[in-house]
Amino acid sequence: MSEAKKEIRVATGDRAILPEGTKLVPIYIMGKQYKVPETMTIQKAIEYAGYQFVRSCGCRGGICGACPTVYRIAGDYKLNFCLACQTVVQENMYLTQMPFFPANRAVYDIEKVDASAETIMQLYPEVMKCVACNTCTKSCPMDIEVMEYVNAAMRGDIAKAAKLSFDCIQCGLCSSRCPAQIQHFHLAQLCRRLHAKYQVKKAAHLEPRVENIKAGKFETVLKDLVAMDEDALRELYVAREMEPQDSNDWQPEDKQYL
Ligand code: SF4
Ligand code: SF4
Ligand code: FES
Repeated sequence: MSEAKKEIRVATGDRAILPEGTKLVPIYIMGKQYKVPETMTIQKAIEYAGYQFVRSCGCRGGICGACPTVYRIAGDYKLNFCLACQTVVQENMYLTQMPFFPANRAVYDIEKVDASAETIMQLYPEVMKCVACNTCTKSCPMDIEVMEYVNAAMRGDIAKAAKLSFDCIQCGLCSSRCPAQIQHFHLAQLCRRLHAKYQVKKAAHLEPRVENIKAGKFETVLKDLVAMDEDALRELYVAREMEPQDSNDWQPEDKQYL
């Protein structure tokens, strides 16, 4: 086999037996070197190296925020931040997983606070210590304008803070880096709750649907679904009525659960 052919990159997925030509690269897990396929995500590479996740892994799809990772490439001063399930390994990557980062969450009754700067100051007064260094934004694996939402919250622009932070997966990387010790993701969650509770127009169907649930309207159908075998569930799923992409006023023919 020629050298050129050996260089072909092969997607290895979860397979432990690698296709011919797959290149292995060194990475460092807790300081120890392992050779892993260069096409794997960090998460898969750690498993390939023989570890089993009991923390620091959840959805494997970039949604749950369980796999924040800090790394340096040997010889490079720069510290990097990413999600292990979404990032492919690089040669000489020194890795640290961060399964949890401590951050205080304010206790409040959403019925007794309002969408204002005063609420933010009362519940998260540390936001006033922001030095506008933008380190939080640079460490966010979701490319969120973190400093911007902190500043919006500080000004009482709750709608802007809620909108800017909408993609936050609460991984905690921003809070791990902040010199002002702000707990960004809890602050952002407060803003989204305030926005939804006090600023967004209520959906007309929401209250009747909650009443339906409380009255047990869906109990029977749920029990029937739970009792079905997998084939019957698949058949039902495939045969379901689907809302067309371009319709604003679509209604299903079967209205018994509306
Ligand atoms: S804002 Fe912070 S907690 Fe949210 S995804 Fe970005 S780094 Fe993670
Ligand atoms: S890291 Fe902290 S101090 Fe720096 S901009 Fe973000 S919130 Fe402000
Ligand atoms: S495992 Fe859920 S975001 Fe990575």
